[in-house]
This record gives sequence, C-alpha cells and structure tokens, in this order.
Amino acid sequence: MAEGAKSMDAIMALCKRRGFIYQASEIYGGINGFWDYGPLGAQLKKNLREAWWQDMIMNPCWGRKGPNGQRVRCVPVETRIVQHPKVWEASGHVGGFNDPMVDCKETKQRYRYDHVSVYVPSSGDAGDKPFFAFMKDSPSETKQLKKAEKAFGQVRTVPLTSMPVTDFAKVLAPDAEKVGSLTEPRQFNLMFKTYIGATASEDDKAYLRPETAQGIFVQFKNVVDTTRVKIPFGIGNTGTSFRNEVTPRNFTFRSREFDQAELEFFCHPSESVEWYKFWRDFRMEWWKSIGLAGENLILREHEKDELSHYSQGTSDVEYRFPFTAPGFGELEGIAHRGDYDLKQHQEHSKTKLQYFDATRGELAPNGQPKGEWYLPHCIEPAAGLDRGVLALICEGYTKDETRPSPEFLKLHPRLSPIKAAVFPLVAKDGMPEVAEKLHAELTEKFWRVGMIDFDEKQSIGKRYARMDEAGTPFCFTIDGQTLQDQTVTVRDRDTGKQDRIGIDKAGQFLVDRLGV
Ligand code: GAP
Repeated sequence: MAEGAKSMDAIMALCKRRGFIYQASEIYGGINGFWDYGPLGAQLKKNLREAWWQDMIMNPCWGRKGPNGQRVRCVPVETRIVQHPKVWEASGHVGGFNDPMVDCKETKQRYRYDHVSVYVPSSGDAGDKPFFAFMKDSPSETKQLKKAEKAFGQVRTVPLTSMPVTDFAKVLAPDAEKVGSLTEPRQFNLMFKTYIGATASEDDKAYLRPETAQGIFVQFKNVVDTTRVKIPFGIGNTGTSFRNEVTPRNFTFRSREFDQAELEFFCHPSESVEWYKFWRDFRMEWWKSIGLAGENLILREHEKDELSHYSQGTSDVEYRFPFTAPGFGELEGIAHRGDYDLKQHQEHSKTKLQYFDATRGELAPNGQPKGEWYLPHCIEPAAGLDRGVLALICEGYTKDETRPSPEFLKLHPRLSPIKAAVFPLVAKDGMPEVAEKLHAELTEKFWRVGMIDFDEKQSIGKRYARMDEAGTPFCFTIDGQTLQDQTVTVRDRDTGKQDRIGIDKAGQFLVDRLGV
C-alpha cells in the first residue's frame, strides 16, 4: 500500500463499528457477496438515492437546459425484480450475460478468466519451473510474487487470457500445490434463477433482474401512451438488481445483490450524440457535487474497440478506491445505446414501440409537419448506489491523530445520515433538559432530511469522536454558560473549531449549512 493510502481494513472496521455496513447473515457465518446496511448506512444510502431522484427526476440537471435549448424532462417508474423471462431473452442477458471462468481442479476455487494474471520470467523461458498465477489485489498476489522471484529473479506479469490454453499445464493456480490444475475457460451465466408458483417445473423458470434498465424499455410504450411526455425525455428507475458474480469481492463493490439508479433518456437519433455528451458531462459534475471532487474521480471515455456494436459512445465515471489504487473502479456507466433495446423488445414482443413525433417530417400543404415514426435512441446513465455509498465513505475517511477520534468521515452535509448532534456537557445541573428541548426542536425541523442525535453518555471528547466517525457535520453542546446567556457551542466536524451562537439560532444555522 502506498504511503498515506487509506486502509480498506480500517474503513471496513469503521463501517462495522459505527453501524454503516454489516456482513449479511453474520451470526450464521455470513453469505458471500451480500451485505446489509446498519442504521447509519441505511440512511446514507437513502440520502444518496434521494439526491439522485431529486437531481435526475424532480429537477433534472438542476434545472439546466439540454442541447435542444429546453429544460430537461424526466419521469420515474418503479418496475419489478421479476419480469417475463422473455424480457431477458430479448435483452440478450439469457444468451449472453456470461463471464468466462476457469476452475482449479485441486482447490475447487473458481476464478474469472479475465481477472487472473500470471508471473513469468522477465526474459527467457521458464525451463521446468511453473508460471505463477494470482488474482490481483488478493493475498495470492504477494504469495505468488515471492515464489516467482525466487524461481526467476526478475519477473513480469501477463494476463492469463493472453496465454495459449495449452500452456495452462505449466501454470500453478493461485492457492494450489500442484501445477496444471486450471481448467480451460468456460462460460458462466450471471442470472439468478427462480421459479414462479408451487410446481417449480422448468416451464415456471424466471430470473431476478440483473439491471433495472430493462423495466424502463418494457414500459416505454405505456409511459408514452398514458402521460404527456414528448421526446426528448427520460425515464428513471431505481431498485435492487442481482448478479451471480463469480468472484464477489472488495467489500460491497462487487456484490451479488445491489441497488442501481438508472435513467434511459429517449431522443431523436439525429440529436443522440449531443445528448450523450450532455449526460456524460452532467453525471461527472453530479458526483463531484456530492463530495467526490478531486483527483480520485475521473471520466473515462471508452476506446472504439471497447464499444458494443450498437454504441456510438460509452464513458465511465470511475473512482480511485483504496483497493483499485493507483487504478480506478467504475461507479457509473453512461452509454449511447442507440435503438438496440427498443428494437429487441419490439421484435420479441411483436409490439410496435415506435414513437410518433408530430413535430418532425415533411411539411404538409397546410405548412405543418406531417409527423415522423421512429425508434428513439437512448442515452443511459447507469449508476450503482452501493458503489456510490462505498466511494463516499472511502473519500470521506480521513485520518487525524491529533483529534479525539484519530479517524473521521468527511461526508458532504447533504449525504450525512446524522445532520447534527445535541449534547449536554454534563448530565446534571439542568443541562440535559435544555439539550433535550433543543434536540426535539431540531428533530421536528429536520426529520425529513436526516437524523438529529442526542447523547449524554461518556466524556464530551468521546461523544465528539463518535459523531466524527459517523460523519455528523455539526455538534451543539449545552454547557454552564447556556444556562446563563442562552448560547450554545457549535462544533464543526472538519475543523474541530467551536463557536458560540444563540440557542434560538441553532435551527437557522443548520438550514444555512445544510442547504435545505
Ligand atoms: N443497464 C446498464 C448496466 O446495468 P452496468 O455497468 O452493468 O450497466 C451499472 O451497471 C452500475 O451498477 C455499475 O456502474 C455499478 O455501479 C453497479 N454494479 C454493477 N454490478 C455490480 C455489482 N456486482 N455490485 C455492485 N454494484 C454493481
């Protein structure tokens, strides 16, 4: 780990200690690839989802105008996890949503083919020595490096995918004792299967959705027919998706159950590239606005050879997580999907999904456009809420040995689960009563945006430390002077600085600082 880098172990410990994220089914030993949110994590994730909802649906792009010179318009839907199985045939997920995997016959471990790398001699051939395979960012990386350096001196890394399969006989798998235990790569479908109804026969097979996006395409016609939306417009959908990831890892980053917030923005094909650029830039700005500014956030435009055959552009908003550093991990993908999805569903469902645009087409003799039927093109900003929460926690995690808590969370006030805490300096002399009254007043005023905490246990230093770790931006303390002159101290989480303000100004102070 580079000096000054944040330790993922320390971040995970804080998440557990303060009730942000717990292992799912922990008392039964946990279940791989599933994570639960504790009280603070649940509220943080809700705040992130609501920030997305407000800035994408209620007041899209903060009221800005799009490339057509009009305000951006979006509506929500909420679609089900289980859809007709044909939805996933049409979308290509049943046939093509596969990861190529290699199995280790000795350890019974399964690895994603494109995630395995191999140490080979930096020059010359290996002779009778094996090639040492490892998974990046796992203990096998250092273990195998030691062995490889002992065998070859100087080593270099190559991806397993670049090796001829015939050479697998010479590869020592990450945790194996014997050489040659890796199988050839095989496809592994990521869709979770389930059965509808009691008989559970093959005819009743269904799938848990692997993305929220398809629910939007499937309801596109209903939204057009039942509301007054006109192209260009977006439809947003948030909720849980499932992928039977072969190697869930890096805390919540690659989970088997996770939440997405996706928008499909429908527009005329001739305007789609402009809208793609618009959404790509807005989404980057949005993540910056909620606290991920700086060099840990990048927008990466895909190379031409990375694009799907139907796409005219894809970019990823990527964050430098401690486990990807110095590299980056995807937070959100913004894709120009053309008319691929509507066309697929039109063909498979035999339902006309073309849109009639009365503002286009040749002019009729009366000077009015005759209208045009077309399949809209789609721009898809697809964000992961769990990855968003993880990025916010990693970014906010700050070490400072000089403080009562040597670590604290610098969360953006809009996202922090607890907006403020109220403490009596000591639990006597009438201070708890004054503090309880202020706590009740502030709760009444702010319950819509987050929690207001009350704490009278332990020393004041320990209480500040607890709130710093929870990412609470402000703490109000009632002390002896409060009883004399009705002022309280207000402590700023990031600077540790304390000011005195009138107790009757505490609510307005929060309104100004929280921007609510
Ligand atoms: N509809 C397009 C789509 O689903 P994606 O890039 O596969 O695109 C979008 O997923 C986002 O969902 C990702 O950028 C990521 O934030 C999140 N995501 C995908 N797989 C995930 C997983 N296994 N665990 C957590 N988040 C995941």
